[in-house]
Amino acid sequence: MQLQNLAIVAFLSYLASVNAWSPTDSYAPAQGSCNGNTNLVREASGLSTAETEWLAKRESNTKVALKKFLDRATSKFSDNSIVEKIFSSSTPRAGYASCGGGYRGTFIDAGIAAAMDERTVGANEHGLGGLLQGMSYMTGLSGGTMFTSTLLFNNWTSVQDIVDQMNDGDHSIWDISESPLALATATDTTTQKMFGSILSSIREKYEAGFDVTLADVYGLFTGYYLYPSLPGGGATYLWSDVQDMDTFKNGEMPMIIELTSAEKTDETAVSLGSTGFEVTPFEFGSWDPTINAFTDMKYLGTEVSNGVPTNEDQCVTGFDNASFFSGASSNIVNYIYYQGNAMYRSAVTTLKSKFLPSNSTVDRIDVNIIRPNPFKDTQYFEGSDNALVDMEGLYMVDGGFGGQNIPFTPLMRKERNLDVVFASDTTFNTADVWPTGSSLVNTYTRQFMEIGKTDAFPYVPDTETMVNLGINKNPTFFGCDSSNLTDLAYVPPLVVYLPNRAYSFNSNITTWTLTYTKEERLAMIQNGFEIATRNNFTDDPDFLGCVGCAVMRRKQEQLGLEWPSECEQCFQRYCWNGTIAHDSRNASTDSTPDTKNDVLPDANAADVSSIVAAQCIDDNCFSTIHTATSTTVTCHECEENKTAQTASFTTTTVECEECEEAEYATTATNGNHKYTTVTSLSTTTEICEECEEAEAQATASTKANGNHVNTKTVTSLSTTTEICEECEQTQATVANGSNNGVKSSLSIPTMLQVTTGIPTYSAMSVVLNENIGNCIELKGFITVVALAFAAVGIF
Ligand SMILES: *[C@@H]1O[C@H](CO)[C@@H](O)[C@H](O)[C@H]1NC(C)=O
Ligand SMILES: *[C@@H]1O[C@H](CO)[C@@H](O)[C@H](O)[C@H]1NC(C)=O
Ligand SMILES: *[C@@H]1O[C@H](CO)[C@@H](O)[C@H](O)[C@H]1NC(C)=O
Ligand SMILES: *[C@@H]1O[C@H](CO)[C@@H](O)[C@H](O)[C@H]1NC(C)=O
Ligand SMILES: *[C@@H]1O[C@H](CO)[C@@H](O)[C@H](O)[C@H]1NC(C)=O
Ligand SMILES: *[C@@H]1O[C@H](CO)[C@@H](O)[C@H](O)[C@H]1NC(C)=O
Ligand SMILES: *[C@@H]1O[C@H](CO)[C@@H](O)[C@H](O)[C@H]1NC(C)=O
Ligand SMILES: *[C@@H]1O[C@H](CO)[C@@H](O)[C@H](O)[C@H]1NC(C)=O
Ligand SMILES: *[C@@H]1O[C@H](CO)[C@@H](O)[C@H](O)[C@H]1NC(C)=O
Ligand SMILES: *[C@@H]1O[C@H](CO)[C@@H](O)[C@H](O)[C@H]1NC(C)=O
Repeated sequence: MQLQNLAIVAFLSYLASVNAWSPTDSYAPAQGSCNGNTNLVREASGLSTAETEWLAKRESNTKVALKKFLDRATSKFSDNSIVEKIFSSSTPRAGYASCGGGYRGTFIDAGIAAAMDERTVGANEHGLGGLLQGMSYMTGLSGGTMFTSTLLFNNWTSVQDIVDQMNDGDHSIWDISESPLALATATDTTTQKMFGSILSSIREKYEAGFDVTLADVYGLFTGYYLYPSLPGGGATYLWSDVQDMDTFKNGEMPMIIELTSAEKTDETAVSLGSTGFEVTPFEFGSWDPTINAFTDMKYLGTEVSNGVPTNEDQCVTGFDNASFFSGASSNIVNYIYYQGNAMYRSAVTTLKSKFLPSNSTVDRIDVNIIRPNPFKDTQYFEGSDNALVDMEGLYMVDGGFGGQNIPFTPLMRKERNLDVVFASDTTFNTADVWPTGSSLVNTYTRQFMEIGKTDAFPYVPDTETMVNLGINKNPTFFGCDSSNLTDLAYVPPLVVYLPNRAYSFNSNITTWTLTYTKEERLAMIQNGFEIATRNNFTDDPDFLGCVGCAVMRRKQEQLGLEWPSECEQCFQRYCWNGTIAHDSRNASTDSTPDTKNDVLPDANAADVSSIVAAQCIDDNCFSTIHTATSTTVTCHECEENKTAQTASFTTTTVECEECEEAEYATTATNGNHKYTTVTSLSTTTEICEECEEAEAQATASTKANGNHVNTKTVTSLSTTTEICEECEQTQATVANGSNNGVKSSLSIPTMLQVTTGIPTYSAMSVVLNENIGNCIELKGFITVVALAFAAVGIF
């Protein structure tokens, strides 16, 4: 354990040195030389030279690891000489696709990877230990990005190390035991520093002339939970830095690829037909015909036309930050903004005023913007759809929103020539948060659309069949026979599907659960281990051998080797054989795939009628219910787990019925003066309504100033704004010229405005004051709003 910490410290200083080349060493990209690069974009024909060279290095390691794994997997076969025969001429190529689904995805993905990692205790005895060491690629999307990026930017740490850290009780990676929303009132230096650092990163990037949005904020925020040991939560670490990271450079780890999707100018959501982009240590780009090109990751952010820098020696570096892309791959701000009701949009708008520069004129605050567009005016796109190459900037959102929640596409590409792809499925399909296989169906279907015409994916049945045959509960292999795949664009890899199900733990935790205790995180990871191993091989002692067969299948077919009888039996058991099983009553059900969003619930299905926030002080809990038209604050005791449902939602006045101590109240009256206290982040605002004389005010920041009445003082993290409503002028002061502030805006206080005699709490405080799990259950999307900003890595 000590060793682990030392390793992190060593890695830290290593990062410091890696960053030394960076012109700014901050979040803000910088201008510099193009180092002789006259064209930054290439057509998507084949792999890049860099990736090809890296693969060769990686293969010398996977060859040893996979051979060792397969020797172990087949050791009980009557004749396992096939292993020797395969390796005498080639090495199977394997990958792991880590599914999205919030932290549910992150932890199950981690458990599955742990089962395949020789560094995990028990993985070599009752697991698939060594398989991960034999993999060439790992992909992530949404919650899966949270997992894979964690390993990547922590120097290929292991799940076992993270688990050990958790057990050590210190602040470990993924430490989300405490409600991130408790940050609302946290005044500790760590929290204050984090917010200060996020604000200053945002400002630097903005001042360097780049667009900043709430998606940048979200990404920077998540970094603190994924890369807690790195400066600024990894804010200054770049994807292209990975090229220089020894572990990667020497091929000692798989290549990590994250997926993100782009919206066109007139779109507010992605669909199955949207363009998917790959983020790799070398490149950013898309195989889809709408782009069909890749750009050098290192110079992302450079102004180009048809790939050529418009200013010969003005190339941008430092745009490809780790947290920018973990944000882009899991960007849910977009969804909240456009799918939520007015209240959510209002919350987002409020966050904008809190985190984004007041004079920013950015057209979209909900997407990760890559502007300049690296593919501007490129000519590689096919067909007539030039919408993306025409755009000045690319609008990136969560890769899972189009319906493909499992990041298959990079692993299925013909160019990468994989033999087998392992895939977790933590998609939220059923009402009780289990998968039905819709992600498989969607990726399968997409290959027959114009956008997917250069992709191939094995045949899969519809979701009804998957449910009826239990495919959605047990490991299943797809595409077992190449000979049956010849009608597809090419023969894709065999897919080993590993759906989420309960073994030792009910791992169907909703996507918007923000806090997991240490025990819950460990239980999720253990359950993931059991999913990958069919309960540590107790459900099927032969499963290890069967996984070995799946790994060897394509090579066996290509080389025409004899197929061991054990493999024959395994394939009988684990391959989907083409059977369709429909409920007889549902015979007419058409098999149109379910393309609706699987990551977040339907806006319609979810309760978006109100936002419930809670705050507990000792045993007294306040629930605050915000609807589009009213705000209700109720105070009630909750020694037991009293939920918000038991509170009164109907009153429209602020009241504190059962509080023993007056100081818990959110309002106080003094004669005909009514005070409202709004506590948020690090802000306490007192608003005095109906005051004739402001000196009537008791404790605080409201004050009188000569004949000016109704003066408010809004103190935020780094600014103090004084508003004098009836004055001729409003004074705004930036309290501290320090690095921590965004400019205060005169519009900020309007969110604190008192209407109809009831405090309409600032959305900011709504978001940040929630205290999940203490006594009140959160409802609706507010948790998602919170996820995006207050929380941690979510998707
Ligand atoms: C990264 O991990 C590798 C393998 O464990 C180790 O050899 C190397 O020293 C680490 N690098 C840093 C900078 O800590
Ligand atoms: C991204 O990394 C670069 C290089 O280290 C740095 O200059 C920049 O500030 C970082 N961006 C953010 C948002 O942290
Ligand atoms: C399965 O193995 C893992 C890893 O060794 C272990 O943590 C877990 O307790 C085992 N589960 C069962 C049901 O034995
Ligand atoms: C925003 O305001 C800052 C500080 O006043 C200024 O430096 C910057 O140029 C302004 N940006 C725009 C886009 O107006
Ligand atoms: C998880 O699954 C169990 C069993 O299917 C079910 O009883 C429970 O309600 C589910 N939990 C959630 C959050 O839906
Ligand atoms: C069969 O149809 C019924 C009624 O439409 C539906 O409730 C049920 O979920 C369907 N069964 C399956 C497996 O899709
Ligand atoms: C195909 O699979 C189904 C369901 O698992 C099974 O009932 C059937 O016997 C299998 N058919 C063949 C030819 O193996
Ligand atoms: C074999 O191919 C046919 C289409 O030619 C397809 O309908 C069927 O589902 C495939 N079977 C398997 C097991 O993939
Ligand atoms: C309160 O909730 C916690 C966590 O959900 C649970 O462990 C505990 O049993 C609950 N207590 C009561 C009295 O329901
Ligand atoms: C700036 O902030 C520091 C630390 O928070 C504080 O001590 C100092 O008084 C502030 N300066 C001004 C001018 O408010």
